Amino acid sequence: MTAIVQRGYGAPEQVLRMVRVAVPEAGDDDVLVRVRATSVNTPDWLVTAGVPGILRLAAGLRRPNLQVRGSDLAGVVAAVGANVTDLRPGDEVFGSLWTGSLGTGHGTFAEYTVVPAAQVIPKPARLSWEEAGAAVMSGLTALLASRDVGQVGPGTRVLVNGASGGVGTFAVQFARALGAHVTGVCGPRNVELVRSLGAERVIDYTKEDFTRETGRYDLVLDNVLNHPPKVTARALVPGGIYIPNSIGSPTGLLGSFPRIARARLMSRRGAVDVRAVQCVVNRENLAALAAFLVSGDVRVVIDRTYPLAEAAAAVAHMMTHRARGQIVIAG
Ligand SMILES: NC(=O)c1ccc[n+]([C@@H]2O[C@H](COP(=O)([O-])OP(=O)(O)OC[C@H]3O[C@@H](n4cnc5c(N)ncnc54)[C@H](OP(=O)(O)O)[C@@H]3O)[C@@H](O)[C@H]2O)c1
Repeated sequence: MTAIVQRGYGAPEQVLRMVRVAVPEAGDDDVLVRVRATSVNTPDWLVTAGVPGILRLAAGLRRPNLQVRGSDLAGVVAAVGANVTDLRPGDEVFGSLWTGSLGTGHGTFAEYTVVPAAQVIPKPARLSWEEAGAAVMSGLTALLASRDVGQVGPGTRVLVNGASGGVGTFAVQFARALGAHVTGVCGPRNVELVRSLGAERVIDYTKEDFTRETGRYDLVLDNVLNHPPKVTARALVPGGIYIPNSIGSPTGLLGSFPRIARARLMSRRGAVDVRAVQCVVNRENLAALAAFLVSGDVRVVIDRTYPLAEAAAAVAHMMTHRARGQIVIAG
């Protein structure tokens, strides 16, 4: 099969190559999937570039231990492991390989991949391959951030910083679907997009600074981390929830980890309630995501679709930090 293989760290065009490799074999609890669509998410470009430096402790010191990037997937089951009884070859599925670990698994920037059966569900017929293959990491993160971690309900005042990106486009829609009053922060060319997703108010960050609005929001989901946490916290009501959901600037050895640590300390002092969100891929969460997508309350915003042969360009596009929604790799 063909796969995009990474031999070292660096610029996508230099380190990602399309080569022929053996089709992986499904373990007893896995399924082998013929990938029809996948997408680019933050771990893919971070591991491609090998930044921040500390990430290499988990991903591989000189080169990534897992040489194929990609975790979201939509595709057709080609074979099932001995213990898998509820899926069979020919089934159309979607899900993700993501386990929270950078150093294990197979990768989806390939013709075939192996995924634990517990991390895929049947693909709803209503979703295209591209939509299903781009929904999971960003969609689940946004769903869990708003519904569970952020406890969004009717009337909650939510601010989404980075509302036009992969996570942000989903987060605006989930918060809206859960009954919140949503304010989205984005650049000038995306104001109409974010409004169309259900934001009552859109802040163009080139004209207004949301951190100057003191005591206004019950929840801030920060997908950018471009302000110090104590500055961002000014926008919250006392005891409001702050989710610093971003790697921020991944330069140097530690990237923005010190900034995230400072946010946690702020929480201990009781000023605001700082919480983390983890993208947990399991069938229950995938089914909840699928229900929102099938109902039409939430849609997958796709910026652009690249063929597998141009995966390096797709990763480079994400590294511009100007993606509008998800970047898809299909075909
Ligand atoms: N907790 C988890 O498990 C989890 C899972 C997935 C992702 N994440 C994190 O979520 C973060 C966002 O991921 P993503 O996929 O949404 O990234 P992304 O798609 O690359 O985000 C791009 C967006 O960022 C916006 N942006 C850039 N600078 C901005 C600024 N100063 N103010 C407001 N918006 C700005 C851009 O908006 P404009 O073009 O409009 O300027 C663009 O739409 C990442 O840091 C990632 O680490 C966490």
